[in-house]
Amino acid sequence: MNLQRKPIITGNWKMNQKISEAIELVNGLKRELYDEEGIEIVICPPYTALSELGESLQDSNIQLGAQDLFWESSGAYTGEVSASMLKDVGCRYVIIGHSERRHYLGETNEMVAKKVRRALDEKLIPIVCVGERLEEREEGKTFEVVKDHLANGLSLVKKEEIHEVVIAYEPVWAIGTGKNATAGQAEEVHAFIRKLLGDVFDKTAAARVRIQYGGSVKPENIAELMEEEDVNGALVGGASLTIEGFSQIVKRAHIRVS
Ligand code: PGA
Repeated sequence: MNLQRKPIITGNWKMNQKISEAIELVNGLKRELYDEEGIEIVICPPYTALSELGESLQDSNIQLGAQDLFWESSGAYTGEVSASMLKDVGCRYVIIGHSERRHYLGETNEMVAKKVRRALDEKLIPIVCVGERLEEREEGKTFEVVKDHLANGLSLVKKEEIHEVVIAYEPVWAIGTGKNATAGQAEEVHAFIRKLLGDVFDKTAAARVRIQYGGSVKPENIAELMEEEDVNGALVGGASLTIEGFSQIVKRAHIRVS
């Protein structure tokens, strides 16, 4: 792990937690994690809980993020939510291009690019997800797919902005399957991502980019993943839905910081 890049652990709650459940979870996390300092902690609840949690997280060390946004600033876009609305309820981060959106909703790299642009314009930090499917890995296309997601998904980002973007490498075969990538497999792709960002944008800026690993992260595997030079945190799905699971992940990642 490189200490110049403040590690970031994000909980992606996906389509889970009604407001009462969300409040209970957040109260528990605040209690468990109030003294964590060396690590950035972000939770991304569903839209319906954002406003309530935005209030509850004021003055806490846990930050709020959304799971998506729309690229236009306002207008006739039924069902969509804008970046300024997210900021209005206290969001600082937004996940963009999650594989579930790419696969279930047909989200393309072009859409990802426009969403990343909007997020940066509104001073939201985008967490941009990239990663290959199992068949792509088996066909030896992992690097090709990741390069395609990055080159096209970040096509509207300027050189001087790239250090602000967080990248989440999430091999699709590891998401929700209980089968995480090994630390070595993760590092191999993370190092590739950093080199690519250096080639496309700028080497110094690329050195500052935080790259999270996502896919079946749990308390048992976080420490090993965080040992790797280019693993700067995690995007956690299932294990972020319990107080014990998420706080243990943050604490075990944190142990490696100090
Ligand atoms: P998982 O999900 O931790 O449940 O595998 C990760 C993600 O999809 O962000």
